Amino acid sequence: MEVIIKPSAESAVKLTAELIGDAVRMRPESVLGLATGRTMESLYAELSRMCREEKLDFSLTRTFNLDEYIGLSGDNINSYRYYMNYHLFNNINIDKRNTHLPDGMADDVIAEAARYEDEIEFAGGIDIQLLGIGSDGHIGFNEPLSSLSSRTRAKSLTPETYEQNSPLFDNPDEMPKRAFTMGVGTILDARRIIMLVTGAGKADILSKAVEGPLTAMITGSAIQLHPNAVVVCDEAAATKLVGRKYYDFVFQNEPEWEPYR
Ligand code: GLP
Repeated sequence: MEVIIKPSAESAVKLTAELIGDAVRMRPESVLGLATGRTMESLYAELSRMCREEKLDFSLTRTFNLDEYIGLSGDNINSYRYYMNYHLFNNINIDKRNTHLPDGMADDVIAEAARYEDEIEFAGGIDIQLLGIGSDGHIGFNEPLSSLSSRTRAKSLTPETYEQNSPLFDNPDEMPKRAFTMGVGTILDARRIIMLVTGAGKADILSKAVEGPLTAMITGSAIQLHPNAVVVCDEAAATKLVGRKYYDFVFQNEPEWEPYR
């Protein structure tokens, strides 16, 4: 794993967008695993700008989102399908038929989860999986005690996640208590992982996920198992990282990062 600490949230977002943009330029039919949440809004604004102003071409790109609330249809303003259309898909030249999220309205949740896994496999797997981290350490909606080898399935959300996300609903009581999420095992199958974390509120959980023990209590710690994972964060989120001197040294010296310094 590598950790890149940028001075501001804006520069962390910019670097993440450049990494994704370069991957799409190199392989236009890339399969991107996408995330939602407040952190990603400025990233999607930047990718939209790159498409508009720099002609970053998403016409062949395929996407799979991490998760979706159970019980919300895609036209519900709080669904992740709506979020993705609003923040990204409507603003770039992607073919919406190539964009995938679990169907929050599926009657048979077990069949829907299996269908989603099959679709990812049929697409050849995920090239780059973008991740944020929840305040309880979740990736996707893999709440504490999620198996580190779990696959896509329905999960009950924790009270902490409820507290974190319900203010985003006009009526907080309308937030579903369950969601579909890719499993930790599904996420770890991606060929590359980029985790974007910004803001002082994430400093504690970020240090636990990156430098703490591997534990199902903090599913974000599972990225320690991945052979090609990079965490991009801002100064505010990095304050509790004890190894930061070394992380900066790697970023300054590894040839891979030269184009991004
Ligand atoms: C939700 C999503 C996660 C995301 C998290 C962080 O819970 N399921 O994938 O990482 O939000 O959200 P925020 O960026 O708003 O802190």
